[in-house]
Amino acid sequence: MSEPVKVCVTGAAGQIAYSLLYSIAKGDVFGSDQPIILTLLDIAPMEGVLNGVVMELMDCAMPLLKEVIPTCDEKVAFKDIDAAFLVGAMPRREGMERKDLLAANIKIFKSQGGALDTVAKKTVKVVVVGNPANTNALICSKYAPSIPKENFSCLTRLDQNRAQAQIAARLGIPNSAVSNVIIWGNHSSTQFPDVRHAKAIVNGKTVPVPEAVKDDNYLKNEFLTTVQKRGGEVIKARKLSSAMSAAKATADHMRDWWFGTQGDNWVSMGVFSTGAYGIPEGIMYSYPVRIANKQWKIVEGLEINDFAREKMDLTAKELCEERAMAEEICNQ
Ligand code: NAD
Ligand code: LMR
Repeated sequence: MSEPVKVCVTGAAGQIAYSLLYSIAKGDVFGSDQPIILTLLDIAPMEGVLNGVVMELMDCAMPLLKEVIPTCDEKVAFKDIDAAFLVGAMPRREGMERKDLLAANIKIFKSQGGALDTVAKKTVKVVVVGNPANTNALICSKYAPSIPKENFSCLTRLDQNRAQAQIAARLGIPNSAVSNVIIWGNHSSTQFPDVRHAKAIVNGKTVPVPEAVKDDNYLKNEFLTTVQKRGGEVIKARKLSSAMSAAKATADHMRDWWFGTQGDNWVSMGVFSTGAYGIPEGIMYSYPVRIANKQWKIVEGLEINDFAREKMDLTAKELCEERAMAEEICNQ
């Protein structure tokens, strides 16, 4: 067996972590033969709950889990880690937009950026899940200047999975028969779920999704708003934000970063923009990426029509506004 990887999950006493920790510890993310050391970060008032989670992890008797380190100290949690799942943050409640969480959550990511900078490995791979995920990831990276910007990302895989599942249900085919759905922009209601380049396997033949769906009006309207508003619908129904599906998407995101994407396929993740597809530089924008050797690369050359351009710019504008708000809060 190889050396253990050291992995931190923040918000470890919360809803998402409860599903995510099991998935990581049983090998879904880093491989079924990869030993793991888990560090679990939460805040002091949650210490008792965190200890309960530690007991349950122990009671799972997982072969890969070598050690569990619960802590309320960021520098203990991030010491020499290879991967970070930054989940810990306040979730929104019914009637809120995710950016309403900026004031409450952004300082968590400023502080954790600083701690990562000081004690984590410079190769650490960071996925930010806590909302507003894109802007939190941007701030985290800003306060960790010694770690490459490419090592920070935010979760839009849940939106991708939602979009893929909607198309599969519409066509009556398995989820695995739909690929290359794209989420552009912010993990918010301005995101642009784009299936213009997606593929579906229908009756054994691979066809472009628009050709298979045969309903442009559905793809430009109902499909779009269903995916954009899905998080809010789950909150309305559960009175809590999505947790099982968020944990699954988080695991998908890191697994693909760790092991790479398959063949010609791509996945969407929020990454630091340097201007690709005419998007402003210096925001965390969700793009289609291919991954090899733990390095992501934005898929180039996809055709962008007027409809897509407008949607992509709208969500970029929101991210620029969030960045300005976040910087103001951080400078206070
Ligand atoms: P939760 O309230 O169940 O758990 C959050 C945990 O974070 C709590 O245990 C809390 O004590 C902890 N926490 C708060 N501040 C912390 C800090 N400074 N350091 C470490 N831990 C801290 O919430 P949840 O349902 O697990 O959701 C967590 C976050 O993920 C929310 O912001 C939610 O909106 C977001 N989310 C994002 C996506 C996505 O796709 N990006 C999907 C679902 C949820
Ligand atoms: C989601 O998409 O389910 C999460 O971001 C939670 C939320 O606030 O919508």
